[in-house]
Amino acid sequence: MTKQFHGTTLSDDALDQVFREARSYNGWLDKAVSEEQIHAIYELTKMGPTSANQQPARIVWVKSDEAKQQLADLAMEGNKEKILTAPVVAIIGYDIDFHEELPWLFPHTDAKSWFEGDEDGRKQHAFRNSSLQGAYLMLAARSLGLDCGPMSGFDNDAVDKAFFADEPRHRSNFICGIGYGDASTIFERSPRPDFDTFNRIA
Ligand SMILES: Cc1cc2nc3c(=O)[nH]c(=O)nc-3n(C[C@H](O)[C@H](O)[C@H](O)COP(=O)(O)O)c2cc1C
Repeated sequence: MTKQFHGTTLSDDALDQVFREARSYNGWLDKAVSEEQIHAIYELTKMGPTSANQQPARIVWVKSDEAKQQLADLAMEGNKEKILTAPVVAIIGYDIDFHEELPWLFPHTDAKSWFEGDEDGRKQHAFRNSSLQGAYLMLAARSLGLDCGPMSGFDNDAVDKAFFADEPRHRSNFICGIGYGDASTIFERSPRPDFDTFNRIA
């Protein structure tokens, strides 16, 4: 029996930490993130749902100065310093051939056959579900007391060549600095729309 939490709301402190007070940071305190923390982020990230348990995200955790420099060189000007100073930067990529893994990831049916011969469909699924996994990653990091700084301002093709050279079917989606955010580096919170602005109940 799976453990269920029907009707249980997380504490206000937890909701503040993960959503209401969490910000996208532009700079970082000089405090390291360990490999154990990186693993802990992934252990939560992987539990988030993806279609047919595709798990298409392929993540490179950029931690060395050399790799950060390589990534920063491929990013837009305003993102370079953010990459160089982050304790770790996750490159959230995706595998266009994720379906090859479905026999063990979704073992109760032949899901691999649904995607064979449909590369356009696979690209759409991989992008959608790796974007979700990137979001799970940010919520996981925040849940573990870390901060995030997501970025899409970089040359995806160049990053693919540099970081996925041995995996030509992998593509970068977005990158995310992870560490302890420096509160002096963020602007006022941008507006968040009220329910009625972009929602309706049909
Ligand atoms: C996928 C994605 C890409 C982003 N790309 C960049 C970027 O290239 N450079 C940057 O400085 N901020 C980038 N941002 C940060 C957003 O501007 C920021 O998350 C948004 O304004 C909300 O800020 P807040 O979380 O502090 O409220 C990106 C955010 C996301 C989710």
